[in-house]
Amino acid sequence: MQLDELYRQVIMDHYQNPRNQGRLSDEAISVDLRNPSCGDEISLQMMVENGVVKDVRFKGSGCSISMASASMMTDAIKGKTIAEALELSREFREMVKGNEVDLDQLGELESLQGVSKFPARIKCATLAWQALERAADTDAVH
Ligand code: FES
Repeated sequence: MQLDELYRQVIMDHYQNPRNQGRLSDEAISVDLRNPSCGDEISLQMMVENGVVKDVRFKGSGCSISMASASMMTDAIKGKTIAEALELSREFREMVKGNEVDLDQLGELESLQGVSKFPARIKCATLAWQALERAADTDAVH
């Protein structure tokens, strides 16, 4: 199987069977974001305890890239410290900009590296990560 085909399958699997979809309790940190270029939205909720992401959920409507990215992100950051999650976010952003990164750290997220060839889609891929960065920046985390 070609690598591109494998990547496409990983993306479609997360789009069709999104992980960590739904809502957490009202005590969770909530961030709602909209991609201004298309109007698609994501609502991210995160429960942080002692600097560790205990649980994270999302809801949203968007293209396959944005929803697959959100699904993979929530899987990837659960159980990580906020600092580790932000480092992953930094690596992911570098990857979709086409810069060299340590792909081992990114796991399934590597499947989105083709986005770097379509600059208009970078916002799709990073929408959930932007929500994560905002959530990490709230008083509830500090
Ligand atoms: Fe709207 Fe991708 S087209 S998030």
